Amino acid sequence: MNVATLFTTHQQLPEKYQHMSSEEMLERIKTIKKQMGADLFIPGHHYQKDEVIQFADTSGDSLQLAQVSAKQKAKYIVFCGVHFMAETADILTNDDQKVILPDMRAGCSMADMADDKQTEEAWEQLTGMFGDTILPLTYVNSTAAIKAFVGQHGGATVTSSNAKQMVRWAFEQKQRLLFLPDQHLGRNTAVELGIPLDKMAVWDPIARKLEFDGDSEEQIRVILWKGHCSVHENFTIKNIEQVRKNHPDMNIIVHPECKYEVVQQADLAGSTKYIIETIERAPAGTKWAIGTEMNLVNRLINNHQNKKIISLNPFMCPCLTMNRIDLPHLTWALEEVSEGRNTNQISVPSAIAQNAKQALNRMLHSTR
Ligand code: 13P
Ligand code: SF4
Repeated sequence: MNVATLFTTHQQLPEKYQHMSSEEMLERIKTIKKQMGADLFIPGHHYQKDEVIQFADTSGDSLQLAQVSAKQKAKYIVFCGVHFMAETADILTNDDQKVILPDMRAGCSMADMADDKQTEEAWEQLTGMFGDTILPLTYVNSTAAIKAFVGQHGGATVTSSNAKQMVRWAFEQKQRLLFLPDQHLGRNTAVELGIPLDKMAVWDPIARKLEFDGDSEEQIRVILWKGHCSVHENFTIKNIEQVRKNHPDMNIIVHPECKYEVVQQADLAGSTKYIIETIERAPAGTKWAIGTEMNLVNRLINNHQNKKIISLNPFMCPCLTMNRIDLPHLTWALEEVSEGRNTNQISVPSAIAQNAKQALNRMLHSTR
């Protein structure tokens, strides 16, 4: 597939916003939201900072935000999340709707771990080995070009909250699957569905080869792309041992982007939405160590003061790229759209968007 470079107009935050007081920014945002009314929609991912999420018209995990974007009618969607989420919103909305990412540097290191050239190359080698027996699935945490590749080859996107359902769906189509780009979500989901580790191999896109310890490659059912989330990889078995030692009555709940060993040792594992709902439902007085992004953990701590909540890793930081969307960038983005300028617009070329939309729609239609 000949994938064109995504077209974006990238500008830096003008200096005046760096010196503006928080009070003034809050006032400006409120005024613009009121003036623009239904023409403006602000979705916010749960990992966004409080100073940003307070202005979100809806907050959610990746699946919820994709579902909301698909139904959105607003002229401007100012997306408070990371680049791949804004691309998804652009793919699922009409051509006359504009999706803006307040800071173009808000990328995702996991999404950057699979590019279209590497994927084409892997596909050629893997289909050479296994013939037409593989279906590609990609976590939505991937570039539009990877979603397009997957869509073109009959596959679908998945999120952490529907991965199990989508892996089951994939096995109804083909004997094997290639899971991009998060090896941990792929492995944890396949194990949950009863696929043993010795039926899984890892594709290393840098070494360009398959890592497999088993006896016969014929037994491979899941090929995991060697990618990971640099935030969730920071939760370790050591953290779990520490919590078990210091707080034996604490429940440990982690996101499935954490490593297999960590998920196995935790009491519970599930998507961002699952973690939030579990904490909301938990009785007062219960104790929780959470293995996920720090802005969300801090919000849960503040919102549930009748429960004891800590981060599974006491030295955890927020996702740095999510954190790039801050009050100054949001104020700037909103002032630009209110004056009719499409600064930092995310615009996926239509050839890519068409194929990527197929992959997204297969997911949205299977998990309504
Ligand atoms: P979910 O919103 O699907 O839980 O994904 C977590 C994440 O890492 C988003 O970048
Ligand atoms: Fe990417 Fe991980 Fe940050 Fe999500 S939390 S945006 S997967 S780096």
